[in-house]
Amino acid sequence: MLRLLPPSGPDPNLLVGLDACDDAGVYKINDNIALIQTVDFFPPVVDDPYSYGQIAAANSLSDIYAMGGRPLTAMNIICFPTERLELEVLAEILKGGADKIREAGAVLVGGHSVEDNEPKYGLSVTGIIHPDKVLANAGAKPGDLLVLTKPLGIGIITTAIKGGLASPQEIAEAVSVMAALNKDAAEAMQEVGVSGCTDITGFGLLGHASEMARASNVTMTIFLTRVPVLRPARGYVNMGIVPAGTRTNLKYVQQFVDFAPGLTESDQLILADAITSGGLLISVPEDRVDRLLENLHARGVKDAAVIGEVGRIGSGRIAVVKD
Ligand code: CO
Ligand code: CO
Repeated sequence: MLRLLPPSGPDPNLLVGLDACDDAGVYKINDNIALIQTVDFFPPVVDDPYSYGQIAAANSLSDIYAMGGRPLTAMNIICFPTERLELEVLAEILKGGADKIREAGAVLVGGHSVEDNEPKYGLSVTGIIHPDKVLANAGAKPGDLLVLTKPLGIGIITTAIKGGLASPQEIAEAVSVMAALNKDAAEAMQEVGVSGCTDITGFGLLGHASEMARASNVTMTIFLTRVPVLRPARGYVNMGIVPAGTRTNLKYVQQFVDFAPGLTESDQLILADAITSGGLLISVPEDRVDRLLENLHARGVKDAAVIGEVGRIGSGRIAVVKD
């Protein structure tokens, strides 16, 4: 769809724009500061309005972190059926969002609401970064290792939640993963110095990894058994509990991905799972990976793991092997 838009004229200060398929736009203000801008909002993924607010805000803030930046200001975007739902519900959603904005060290500066049949919520976020420290999709280098900071399986589990199948513990675990900010992960990678980064959301691990591989002109290998996955997701995917978006993702990535023989459809669906507020996928030089993992684990990013490697200069193909 973006191809239908008239091209924005060349602007030397636009460091990352529409055509880069990146997480956020980046615009240079001067030699020391660039603005990072992003917006995201979606319908509820869980029943509890406070949790939903936290998750939607954490997800919106994530694209700032995926560029390596620091969020400064946020604005609420609200669609809400005031006739059909109590305003209390909206208050809880906004409280969840406000708490995440505060945790991120940003400030809420405004927002806009419209009447709508189904609630939707999210943020427009502005952050800053040094122009030389922008972590674009295109930064992955041959020989780098790939680190993922949150487990996969969220899309499958939220589908189980919507179907009334998930236990209270499974819901609590999924909410805590989605509501966790990528702030600690972003600070850890900037401290160590990495090559590139993106966050894992609606296109799934394989979709976002293949965007990164193509933008960087490299090939990648992903080791299935090293990818952290929320345990209940395996059971649900075997029962056929899979979001439509996950199946669409898998179909779409087939053209870029070679699965080793013996990988089941369930394995492939988990790697393609369309998730909300997933972790960062970081491309890091091999001699820095130990420091990065230590730094991540010390900050409480406990699931962070090496899940693959960048191969050679290439056209963006991804090989998935067992281990
Ligand atoms: Co993103
Ligand atoms: Co995004």
